[in-house]
Amino acid sequence: MSTEPSELTGTFITIEGGEGSGKSTLSRLLQNSLNKIGHHVTLCREPGGTILGEQLRAALFSQARSEVSTEILQAAPSPLTELLVFSAARAQLLKEIILPALGDGDTVICDRYTDSTFAYQHYGRGLDRQVIETAVRLTVGNLKPSLTILLDLEPEQGLARHGIVNQKDLFGETSPVGGNNYLDFESLAFHQKIREGYLEMASLEPDRWLVLDAGEDPDVIARIALDAILQLIE
Ligand code: TMP
Repeated sequence: MSTEPSELTGTFITIEGGEGSGKSTLSRLLQNSLNKIGHHVTLCREPGGTILGEQLRAALFSQARSEVSTEILQAAPSPLTELLVFSAARAQLLKEIILPALGDGDTVICDRYTDSTFAYQHYGRGLDRQVIETAVRLTVGNLKPSLTILLDLEPEQGLARHGIVNQKDLFGETSPVGGNNYLDFESLAFHQKIREGYLEMASLEPDRWLVLDAGEDPDVIARIALDAILQLIE
């Protein structure tokens, strides 16, 4: 199996966005539409998508919603630990799923990829960009997506979709409620930095990024994204 992007015949597409931006819904809608017109699609998500990757995801995010407590928030991984765990899950996903699928000519749609690491660990956490670049190079070499769809949304709206109605940094000293994982309970400023980071990355590489308003109807979003994908693969 070659790992040289030039020898991979499939098309690699990633979907990015903040919490509650609708990435998994879009992935499924795109898979259905592409399947209907005869394109084979491999869907995957980060962190996860392999047995080991899902275990690493669970190691980070296993606490039940009701258990998100001050103690758990304090025991959250450091930014460097996050970088290394997300990178480990990614290395496994690449070897087991992404590279073989691209080698077989599939369209691979991945819910999050390296841009998530820059958005969250660099723009969000403030981890040095070069440290992240080193980890990314080590993990994926030169494998870049041909298209990255950014589902852009006000963080308040995305967090509300995750059921966060009492996020303590947003709403005062009430207890956290709802949410998918400890990252949901970071401050609103953290989530805003991530959004701005994504928009900055998209503006720096406009040929790769398609920025869509995640507040739109999911079917409308899927239609626009599908058109962009079809331009690549047909
Ligand atoms: P999600 O995919 O269900 O949104 O959850 C994954 C969480 O992990 C989300 O809060 C973003 C975060 N994350 C990072 O911080 N860095 C990464 O490199 C990746 C892949 C995800």
